[in-house]
Amino acid sequence: MGKLRLGMVGGGQGAFIGNVHRIAARMDDQWDLVAGAFSSDPARSAASAADLGIAPDRAYPDFATMARIEAGRGDGIDAVAVVTPNHLHAEPAVVFLNAGINVICDKPLAATLADAERIEKVASTSKARFFLTHNYTGYPLVRQARELIKKGELGAIRLIQVEYLQDWLTVAVSSKQADWRTNPEATGGAGCIADIGTHAYNLACYISDMLPTEISADLGCFVEGRRVDDNAIVNLRYGNGARGMLWTSQVAPGNENGLRIRVYGDRAGLEWAQENPNVMHVSPFGAPRYTLTRGGVGNGNAGMRNLRVPAGHPEGYLEAFATIYSEAARSIRTDRGELSDPEAHAPTVSDGLNGVRFVGAAIESSANNSAWIHVRP
Ligand SMILES: NC(=O)c1ccc[n+]([C@@H]2O[C@H](COP(=O)([O-])OP(=O)(O)OC[C@H]3O[C@@H](n4cnc5c(N)ncnc54)[C@H](O)[C@@H]3O)[C@@H](O)[C@H]2O)c1
Repeated sequence: MGKLRLGMVGGGQGAFIGNVHRIAARMDDQWDLVAGAFSSDPARSAASAADLGIAPDRAYPDFATMARIEAGRGDGIDAVAVVTPNHLHAEPAVVFLNAGINVICDKPLAATLADAERIEKVASTSKARFFLTHNYTGYPLVRQARELIKKGELGAIRLIQVEYLQDWLTVAVSSKQADWRTNPEATGGAGCIADIGTHAYNLACYISDMLPTEISADLGCFVEGRRVDDNAIVNLRYGNGARGMLWTSQVAPGNENGLRIRVYGDRAGLEWAQENPNVMHVSPFGAPRYTLTRGGVGNGNAGMRNLRVPAGHPEGYLEAFATIYSEAARSIRTDRGELSDPEAHAPTVSDGLNGVRFVGAAIESSANNSAWIHVRP
């Protein structure tokens, strides 16, 4: 079928997640990076493109030029990865969707609800697809957790506890990554709750296949002079009576990327943590607790879909990220009739919109003494 052609907006010299996207795209031999507008500074974009071996005529000074020229080429890009700071997702996403080019955008969907809704509106009428790299949904055991719950192994879900804890902002720091994350103009006013809280929220929604109906949030900022939240505690209520707790922090010393989820139903509970992602603990009520590994998932189950190496050889963050790219490739190839894979799935624009709505509701709740706020589905 040949490889799909990928372009990139952002991810130039000194950037963080662009390189992760490039590794993820390469991993399963589905994508070739062939074009990019890697920086807002044209000279830096050109230098970044040269580092990456991009042909000079496909190293663009800006993303609008890139969308126009790539859309007109016979060998134009099949998708663009948008890996810019949050307030710079909407413009490129809309421009590429309008040019008929599939978009693979990083989270959160946008910095403001207005921008998120704008992307969603264009994506819902475009023939191009929109994928969002909530990459933690790519872990085999996360997929298996969702399947266990879907099959009813946990029974009726009662409790969800999810946390995403880091410590790198425990003191005031300045770096390319820290500066825009703590600048309310670039983040839409949200800090930790948007940066990693949306990952925790998405993970809880994905695994349980449930969205809360209302939330009560307490956002805090512990570092003097910081203008956005660096810690958030959120209670969640679900329509079926279930209750949830979400804690996200970037000022919790000792935590690096401590994303962990526990879900309890009336028949069993499960627990998974991304820093040890190749195991999941399952506790049927009244029976011995067991540890599920990739080896024990069993052929044909969701957790076996994207494996590259046998169980026991650890897969991790990069592989889970690569799964999102490979699922996106399968969806695009299925659309084109090159493949028939109705199971192909990656997070979508509606997952992104849910995340931005969650952030807005959390800010509103916290500003109103943690009042319960309805979350629009
Ligand atoms: N999924 C994940 O696990 C994960 C992890 C980290 C970051 N992210 C998300 O990825 C995005 C980028 O984060 P980062 O940490 O890599 O940021 P970064 O600051 O390291 O990189 C941002 C890049 O965007 C470029 N850029 C800015 N404006 C541009 C423009 N107009 N045109 C082209 N390039 C432009 C910058 O020059 C830089 O290269 C954010 O939305 C963030 O939330 C996701």
